[in-house]
Amino acid sequence: MTILAIETSCDETAVSIVRGTGGLRAPRFTILAHQVSSQIKIHEAWGGVVPNLAKREHEKNLVPVLLAALADAKLLKNSKKPITIPARRRAALKFFGREVELGHQFEAEIFRLAPPRIDAIAVTEGPGLEPALWVGINFAQALAALWKLPLIPVNHMEGHFVSGLGPSHQPGKITFPALGLLVSGGHTELILATNWGRYRLLGRTRDDAVGEAFDKVARLLGYPYPGGPAIGKAAAEAPNDFEAVLPRPMIHSDDFDFSYSGLKTAVLYLVQKFEKVHMLGENTKRAIAKEFQQAAIDVLIAKTTKAITTFAPKTLIAGGGVIANPELRRQLTTMAGTFPGLTLLIPDSLLTTDNASMIGMAAYLRAANKKSLPKKNPKLKARGNLALA
Ligand code: KG4
Ligand code: ZN
Repeated sequence: MTILAIETSCDETAVSIVRGTGGLRAPRFTILAHQVSSQIKIHEAWGGVVPNLAKREHEKNLVPVLLAALADAKLLKNSKKPITIPARRRAALKFFGREVELGHQFEAEIFRLAPPRIDAIAVTEGPGLEPALWVGINFAQALAALWKLPLIPVNHMEGHFVSGLGPSHQPGKITFPALGLLVSGGHTELILATNWGRYRLLGRTRDDAVGEAFDKVARLLGYPYPGGPAIGKAAAEAPNDFEAVLPRPMIHSDDFDFSYSGLKTAVLYLVQKFEKVHMLGENTKRAIAKEFQQAAIDVLIAKTTKAITTFAPKTLIAGGGVIANPELRRQLTTMAGTFPGLTLLIPDSLLTTDNASMIGMAAYLRAANKKSLPKKNPKLKARGNLALA
């Protein structure tokens, strides 16, 4: 099954074309196209993602990103007989009532294409920024109407959850119960899946997400947005450990919740204290970055370990942008190795931060679980707070 997937929940405009085979027992994925257009440059100046700016950028980028993905998958062909049926054209264009500019681009660039040989279209319906989600949803609905294809809505977090089944785990499979550690700019969650589509939320952050803490601490230290990669690099370059120890919030609490805003504030006080006495030198900044990173990781590992001993999962799945952090990957791998019989699925770095391949993979597994594609397309809407559990 070949799926064209669209992801616009935050600040990446992403389109992938993914081929899935093997069903739930031995899923195998080929990524035929993986296009991600990042808006980092635009949001950088604001220190975070601005929803309406994100929406405008998705509107501008979706058509070129789709054309690039179709070209990568060798599915970009002009039609000898463009679709001229007025009803089909109208059915597609009715989705662009609020995205007029995107509607014009769609008319100019998509109507002339030969319908590509794909089986379904998948799109993120939530959670995320609603103005941003709507652009992808409307675009996906228009494509499905024009090309008469089934449309599969996907939960973004389920995308992160299955991203560990990507090409380097072939054929990988999720044996239940499966524990998911999902860590991104918007989420810090431990999820227990007892079967496909059956999720239980064990715990989550009570304030900031761990990725958000990386971004805020990077800002305090004068590193660029998004902060995760910058902190990781600075920490790796730190010549020595920091003399002070930062707190590990909630590490011993009797639950599976997290809290990252106090850790960020502790870094803030530390930076202020330093600046009173002398300038914050490069090596001090690196040492602070290293200690912050280790504090953040310690809590993630402690709570994940506790969930493993409590629920004895057969699979541990890590997902989300923060999993790109090399130290976290290394320490998580070491920890998982101490539990015989536990399989760790950790996504290729290409699949950790937001992308559409994970959305296509989740859509394939969902269709495989239901043993069918939707007969009639649902009328979708953006669901900003959509939960997995
Ligand atoms: O999954 P993602 O791309 O988007 C959301 O759904 O939020 O995650 C983005 C987050 C950002 O906070 C970013 O700083 C963090 O993931 N991140 C990292 C790294 N790369 C991205 N955090 C730590 N280390 C990294 N290498
Ligand atoms: Zn994400």
